[in-house]
Amino acid sequence: MNTDIDEEIFEYLSLHLNPKRLEHSYNVANLAVLLAEKNGVNALKAWLAGLLHDCAKSMTDKELVKFFKNRKKNFKYFKEISANSPHLLHSFAGEIIAREYFKIKDESVLKAIKYHTLGRENMSILERLIFVSDSISHDRKWKHAGALREMAKENLNKAFFEVLVQKIAYVIRNSGWLCPQTIDTWNWYVSNVKKN
Ligand SMILES: [Fe+2]
Ligand SMILES: [Fe+2]
Repeated sequence: MNTDIDEEIFEYLSLHLNPKRLEHSYNVANLAVLLAEKNGVNALKAWLAGLLHDCAKSMTDKELVKFFKNRKKNFKYFKEISANSPHLLHSFAGEIIAREYFKIKDESVLKAIKYHTLGRENMSILERLIFVSDSISHDRKWKHAGALREMAKENLNKAFFEVLVQKIAYVIRNSGWLCPQTIDTWNWYVSNVKKN
């Protein structure tokens, strides 16, 4: 894939992300393009969202909270996330950087960046495939990543559900804080998508 802003994005990411995270961003973008093509989604949008999804990832917890200090918080649970797991704010900050710095105007791309970690109710196919690609891109070495990567190529929704299960199980197993936004995603998926 090659877009006009590819170079600009590469420069920004090279400057702001460590080499591992940079590689991860390209792996996510590549997998997202593959899944987009299989699911009738615009590949260029998948490429952009994949590349930019972690553009705010190098910010510290403090920097992330500060980033939002004088900004409108156009998402739920800001207080809860800031208090319990501020690193999760990188998705929301990433959306703002994509919008303001890279001048991305496409709301579907922006939403895919914004909800790549926690999901939300009524996720689009593009949002789902970025969410999935982030967890199972080629650099991900956790136990089920390889199998889920193959599953995603065959059935995106099935892989989405499995990734969500694994993410929630991981938090619970590690006695971590489960963001209510993830619970919203779970309840939406179980009652509206999986049932049908
Ligand atoms: Fe992320
Ligand atoms: Fe990521």
